[in-house]
Amino acid sequence: MLFFSKKKPTLKDLIPDNYIDIHSHLLPSLDDGSTSIENTLAMTAALRTIGFSQFITTPHIIQHVWENTSEQIITTKNNTVAALQAHQFELPFKAAAEYFMDDNFTHLVQDQNLLTLKDKYVLVEMSYINAPIQLYSILFDLQVAGYIPVLAHPERYLFYHTNTAEYRKLKKAGCKFQLNLLAVTGYYGKQVANVAEELLQGGLYDFVGSDVHHTNHVESFNERVKIKDLSPLKEIIINNNFFAFE
Ligand SMILES: [Fe+2]
Repeated sequence: MLFFSKKKPTLKDLIPDNYIDIHSHLLPSLDDGSTSIENTLAMTAALRTIGFSQFITTPHIIQHVWENTSEQIITTKNNTVAALQAHQFELPFKAAAEYFMDDNFTHLVQDQNLLTLKDKYVLVEMSYINAPIQLYSILFDLQVAGYIPVLAHPERYLFYHTNTAEYRKLKKAGCKFQLNLLAVTGYYGKQVANVAEELLQGGLYDFVGSDVHHTNHVESFNERVKIKDLSPLKEIIINNNFFAFE
């Protein structure tokens, strides 16, 4: 009797044709993402062939590192859209930001000056090494100001790997969770893939994002998915339809 072992699909295979991405670094020269408009064009065109149909790109805003303002981001986005159109690239493309939860972020929240993914949904991140001491008060103040935090790549915060109970606490504190798609291919290592699988099984994720910074990330969509159960992943990919803007 012949035995066929079923191969896992590639990540690319799981991306539907109308996929809406809510996390990437495709604006040139604003952060550690795209390095030029040519680089942006190449990555965006490659992602389109995978199934990406709408882009909400999210440059970092980190005090003392990437001090982008809303105005700089919007200006760069407008210039980028014009350059894309000049190359017959007409897909919907808009900009928000990925906010590092630091002192500067607290001021921006008070000023009600955040670039959102949609309505009041704000993409936030923190250090991979440790959470800010005032994390829960930042999350509280953000919601008092009317915003909804979408925590980028919870699976990548190493300090939670030995304390996964904290993830439920973050959800109770009002965070939505955004999985980095590449995590399920093992791109960030086995441990991150395992935590991603645990969070998927626990139903803790709300949305997904590519978090594409460079062509290596784009090419890694050809890798096979390493997790066992694909159904919760497929569900949250569909959830991204919520962010459709055209
Ligand atoms: Fe990011």
